[in-house]
Amino acid sequence: MQYGYFDDRNREYVITRPDTPLPWINYLGCQAYFGIISNTAGGYSFYRDARLRRITRYRYNNVPFDTGGRYIYLRDDETGDYWSPSWQPTHSGLEQYTCRHGMGYSVIGSQRRGIAASTRYFVPLDENLEIWQLTLSNQRLTRAALSVFSAIEFCLWDAQDDSTNFQRNFSIGEVEIEDGVIYHKTEYRERRDHFAWFACSGELAGFDTQREAFLGPARGWDRPAAVERGESYGSVAHGWAPIGSHHVRLVLDPGETRQILFVLGYQENPRDQKFDPPDSQIVNKKAARPAIARYLARENADAAFRKLRDYWNGLLGICQVNTPDIHTDRMVNVWNAYQCMATFNMSRSASFYESGIGRGLGFRDSNQDLLGFVHMAPERARERVLDLAATQLPGGGAYHQYQPLTKKGNNDVGGNFNDDPHWLILGVAAYLKETGDWSILGEPVQYDNQPGSEQPLYEHLQRSIGYTLERLGPHGLPLIGRADWNDCLNLNCFSDTPGQSFQTTTNKDGKVAESVFIGGLFVLAAKELAAIARHSGHADEAAGYLAEGARMEETVRRHGWDGEWFLRAYDDSGNKVGSRECAEGKIFIEPQGFCVLAGIGLEDGLARRALDSVRKHLATPHGIVLQQPAYSRYYLQLGEISSYPPGYKENAGIFCHNNPWVTIAEAMAGNGEGAHDYYSRINPSAREPISDVHRCEPYVYAQMIAGRDAPTHGEAKNSWLTGTAAWNYHAITQWILGIRPAYDGLRIAPVIPERWTGFRAVRRFRGVTYNVTVRRQGPGNGVTLIVDGRPVAGDVVPAPADGRTEVAVEATLG
Ligand code: BGC
Ligand code: NOJ
Repeated sequence: MQYGYFDDRNREYVITRPDTPLPWINYLGCQAYFGIISNTAGGYSFYRDARLRRITRYRYNNVPFDTGGRYIYLRDDETGDYWSPSWQPTHSGLEQYTCRHGMGYSVIGSQRRGIAASTRYFVPLDENLEIWQLTLSNQRLTRAALSVFSAIEFCLWDAQDDSTNFQRNFSIGEVEIEDGVIYHKTEYRERRDHFAWFACSGELAGFDTQREAFLGPARGWDRPAAVERGESYGSVAHGWAPIGSHHVRLVLDPGETRQILFVLGYQENPRDQKFDPPDSQIVNKKAARPAIARYLARENADAAFRKLRDYWNGLLGICQVNTPDIHTDRMVNVWNAYQCMATFNMSRSASFYESGIGRGLGFRDSNQDLLGFVHMAPERARERVLDLAATQLPGGGAYHQYQPLTKKGNNDVGGNFNDDPHWLILGVAAYLKETGDWSILGEPVQYDNQPGSEQPLYEHLQRSIGYTLERLGPHGLPLIGRADWNDCLNLNCFSDTPGQSFQTTTNKDGKVAESVFIGGLFVLAAKELAAIARHSGHADEAAGYLAEGARMEETVRRHGWDGEWFLRAYDDSGNKVGSRECAEGKIFIEPQGFCVLAGIGLEDGLARRALDSVRKHLATPHGIVLQQPAYSRYYLQLGEISSYPPGYKENAGIFCHNNPWVTIAEAMAGNGEGAHDYYSRINPSAREPISDVHRCEPYVYAQMIAGRDAPTHGEAKNSWLTGTAAWNYHAITQWILGIRPAYDGLRIAPVIPERWTGFRAVRRFRGVTYNVTVRRQGPGNGVTLIVDGRPVAGDVVPAPADGRTEVAVEATLG
């Protein structure tokens, strides 16, 4: 069953009924001002940091699930009938409803009793504000007298404090109202130099800024007293809960259409210019006024919207494909790329499953996210790499996360995840291959953000490798530390106390438990660093890294192979994890995928056997589960993994992040059919017809789909902010379609299904547009290249020597 459809031409997903199984959301903003918005206008906004600069309030895990948003109420002033054109919060019947989620904007439109309303929500480029453009039209045969009310609830900035510290917060809320603009200025008098403003283009009949006045006693957002009676109270918030609500009355002739704009913005003032007059306590609004005036004018809002569309068309235009599979096309051309930008901007901080107060930017997550967006935003990728590296610890290890506002690392969600440092090498390698910008390696970068500790980025990568070499366990495999990619395989935390965090408790010395997965990751990272060293003229160092990689590969083969698949780990007692000897959790996905990605066993059949075991034991129609058999009870020595009920999350859920590792591994093993098959199983667009089972948005990946051991097998959770986005984008574009940036040029090495006769692609790479046509001549993956009419040996298209910016590549497969 579906709840909408893809409008591929307009790059929109159109939701056709408001009662989607879960809120289906979109992101607004792509630079500093951000918002999340559901298909019924739920959600909130923030400036840079979802925790520390929350602009509007949202209530997670509420009833209804999606409570708090960018609400508009319409009221028929003749009958008193009122409703929300976005369905929530009044849930009034709508004769027609659509939500169009597009690239950086959402349009929610509906109709009730002859009044059509459509609101376009977006954040203009280069501005710290959001625009709601409401278009109303009277399709009745008679005149309509209407009231329009806007409603947002301000957050008192720090979202965590806002939802806990009520003894203080109920007394500090403050606003100012000037020329119909509502200014939210809680804590501005003392330590803050920022405020929010909410403006309306219509002539105001009234306003409210105190929640209890607007809603009335014992009422919720579904029945505000002001809306019901058709008149605001003119309330001025002192303490309690400041809100912003405008009231506009208008009369529409039959057939008449009118537009009202609401603009919500964020403004910072220099410390010495906070007040106007300077010796008063009145907010200095000078800096905000020009933006208010500009965007309350419809033509300026329209122009800003066109600019936003051009921006996205430009970004998405960098890689466009035309294949025999519509689900591949729309994910690559639109939604997967778009999701990669969202994961880049948000990391794992703010979604409908990440509260915006829990996590900052993860070290390993952000490095992997690079794989999906580096081609669209290379300068921002550069900045991100350098920011991440600057949080690296002098010993080569990493803080697990850093805060976007301060850019400083912290241990709030634990430290000593021993895989972390290697993702920096993979991130830098991806950046170098895409851009060819070798200068980044020489950039001086601090350790632990300490001034004076600067060393070239290249040295940071070297210390990453050194970190593991100093932390080898009894079998010579890397010690796992807190955990590796799998946050829940906590082999050094024997936690038996309620409330203890698996991510921050350690009661073992960490000298025994080893990770085969980090072994595979190390082999790949060492190879990448060797290539980087070679290309930057350090041949001897390159040889050293290759030797270390080879040594680790040998160790993985000797102590990390279980007979039919790669072992997962050794626990603190030296017992195997992910072995046929185990009662449960006999085989895990991660080492199968990553050891093959690192090239282990591709030559001698080991890789094939591991992948066949994945197919036999882990593959389901909904994707590949993380391990089998699921843990049916709690194993103290394994940690959080066995705390989840079977089939969910890391305990045998389909953890979509690592499915593409197997997809890539299959492609590396030459199996195009198998690779694309795995790719398709979790492709959200391909799952659209089973939206009632999948439940999350059909246009973006979710972190997890319930595994076969769960009663809800096939149900997705935690959509949007997941490494799944970058890895699937990487898998399909670079390994299946095979258009793969290499140090020396653009490699064309497709491994596609046999039944595909070919495909076309346009890829901009280092300033050149490559128009690629791939034709299958026979079975197999051998590539013959003709570039601008001339044969080229091998599978790498070198940069055109004569400065051409457009190149035609014909690739024959067979
Ligand atoms: C989740 C993991 C997540 C981790 C973050 C765990 O509870 O299961 O998926 O990565 O928390 O700290
Ligand atoms: C989500 C985390 O963000 C990521 O870092 C981790 O690798 C996976 N969960 C698996 O535990």
